[in-house]
Amino acid sequence: MYGNDFASPSDAPSASPEPVEPGLEDFWRIVGEDGRIEPRDAMPEDYRSSLVRQIAQHAHSEIIGMQPEGEWISRAPSLRRKAILMAKVQDEAGHGLYLYAAAETLGVDRAELLDMLHTGRQKYSSIFNYPTLTWADIGTIGWLVDGAAIVNQVPLCRCSYGPYARAMVRVCKEESFHQRQGFEALYTLSHGTPQQHEMAQDAVDRWWWPSLMMFGPHDSGPHATAGHTAKSMAWGVKRFSNDDLRQRFVDMTVPQAEALGLTLPDPDLRWNESRGHYDFGEIDFNELFEVIKGNGPCNAERMANRRRAHEEGAWVREAATAYAEKTAARRTAGAA
Ligand SMILES: [Fe+2]
Ligand SMILES: [Fe+2]
Repeated sequence: MYGNDFASPSDAPSASPEPVEPGLEDFWRIVGEDGRIEPRDAMPEDYRSSLVRQIAQHAHSEIIGMQPEGEWISRAPSLRRKAILMAKVQDEAGHGLYLYAAAETLGVDRAELLDMLHTGRQKYSSIFNYPTLTWADIGTIGWLVDGAAIVNQVPLCRCSYGPYARAMVRVCKEESFHQRQGFEALYTLSHGTPQQHEMAQDAVDRWWWPSLMMFGPHDSGPHATAGHTAKSMAWGVKRFSNDDLRQRFVDMTVPQAEALGLTLPDPDLRWNESRGHYDFGEIDFNELFEVIKGNGPCNAERMANRRRAHEEGAWVREAATAYAEKTAARRTAGAA
């Protein structure tokens, strides 16, 4: 996900066609014309609540995603790498900010959304529950995880909800820098010493399958289990199926792996002339559902860090609120 929206089969609602309620004619007209729905427009309640969930989950993923990479800022191998990594991790904080702001236009409060994250009622992308064991993981995350995020998020720049679509335009520009810096860091390692090459290959071996899982379960074909896709497509929020996006990612990534001189860990990966796409092996979705349920290698650690950061930041929020109140009072006194 990280912009893609899905749940495990146990809690996915079934998709039903949307009846046109009175007062929503404009909504369906705008969606039909591929226009943008703005916060002031009437919208179906489940469109609103589903967008709140998707945008919040996306925002949570951006800020939790700072953790696996943040761990390597103090251990980056050079000043140049450190500066790049710091810029990237700060970008992710910024993405969280744009997205919480976009969610707030739908009538929810950021504090409420953070509370849902901290109490486990809202999720974040399962990819961030895997550990970053070596420096090569940082390059691999940029290349594969940010690469998969771009494939998911570029279509969201055209999604029907205006504030979300506009936030995604800037996010995607920054994600493309993230992907390139990852590729470049990994290229340097894979063309370095034999040990560096081995380290790069090991990281790719560990991140490849979780990256494919980022697109969610099958939502097309005989094995479809994902529940939100049909509705989301009717609303103009989702443009392509999880499977189509995953295929696009695989097709884009295989030649890049060749350029890196690294192997993708899938014996079934091969070009299919008749389909005009790469075939690839079966994904272990049980692993994905286990990680979503909280049983991934780093779930507990990520959540503990997040809650602690929130508690330790309480004084900043209090100070900012006190400052805003004082400024407002001064302005009122000045006007009187
Ligand atoms: Fe991001
Ligand atoms: Fe990113």
